[in-house]
Amino acid sequence: MSEKVLSPITKVEFIKEPNSSNHYQTNGLDSLMLGRGEDFKCIVGDSRYALTYFNDNTFQCCITSPPYWGLRDYNIVGQIGAEDSLDEYISDLVNIFREVRRTLKSDGTLWLNIGDSYTSGNRTWRDTDKKNAARAMSYRPPTPPGLKPKDLIGIPWRVALALQDDGWYLRADIVWHKPNCQPESVKDRPTRSHEYVFLFSKSEKYYYDHEAIKEPTKEKTKLRNRRTVWSINTEGFNGAHFAVFPPELVRLCLLAGSKPDTIVLDPFLGSGTVAQSCIEHKRKCIGVELNPDYADIAYDRISTTNKGLGL
Ligand SMILES: C[S@@+](CC[C@H](N)C(=O)[O-])C[C@H]1O[C@@H](n2cnc3c(N)ncnc32)[C@H](O)[C@@H]1O
Repeated sequence: MSEKVLSPITKVEFIKEPNSSNHYQTNGLDSLMLGRGEDFKCIVGDSRYALTYFNDNTFQCCITSPPYWGLRDYNIVGQIGAEDSLDEYISDLVNIFREVRRTLKSDGTLWLNIGDSYTSGNRTWRDTDKKNAARAMSYRPPTPPGLKPKDLIGIPWRVALALQDDGWYLRADIVWHKPNCQPESVKDRPTRSHEYVFLFSKSEKYYYDHEAIKEPTKEKTKLRNRRTVWSINTEGFNGAHFAVFPPELVRLCLLAGSKPDTIVLDPFLGSGTVAQSCIEHKRKCIGVELNPDYADIAYDRISTTNKGLGL
């Protein structure tokens, strides 16, 4: 049997905002979809507009991590996460994921990783990001109405419930436990060592391959259904300046949520971890990334890492 040769990947410059000077030309859907034999496409553009171009029932699953609210500056106009109010942030995400739902197959799923944060106590500045000072938000958004200084905002659950209200089936809250979490200098609460990955489905019945992600029992004598706490170390990616997915986290979502040769969507592609995992596991991927510099990182990562595969 001959080895599957991956086709050259394509990077498409796409619309940021219709009818504005920020408008990149596109040849419409044809230039955004995968061509015959293509495995990965990186679309440089704003997910709020780019997704509206795709047909219904296109993607088998979506695996993604949007920017967290008020946490990191991705240095580009139109970025999600820089909204002044929490309500605007949630509404932007609900609108984007409504388009994701439309473009998913009827048995498709969404795997959404999202992080939490604390109210600022009305400080307008943010402590430097110890990992990368340049990337911290230079301001803190105001405390949302009804919350107090030092409150944990509960963003993941606020977003999850808003998506449920919008029509998604909320099927699981997976706790991503990070054994190597960042130390915190706090003395009045435990150090945070987890984030959530929510599993949503478009319909009541959906594709979920539980066999593919079974885990060993405590005695390690047999396999059992995967539990909702996943202990996975965070991993940096050389070249990326922000939080990237650990490949193992993506692998579990991908194997449970998709079959080989189906198309996976990441509307916040970043350094391209989802695309890389798709190629390793013989899925196809379309990613959207607003910042052209990060799109280049993803593009270079996929082309360099997979050279031997024919890219
Ligand atoms: C948390 S990072 C994703 C990291 C990614 N999972 C990885 O493994 O590298 C979020 C990304 O969303 C991008 N982004 C922000 N607003 C966007 C928008 N409106 N449309 C598309 N991408 C956006 C940011 O530039 C950033 O690269």
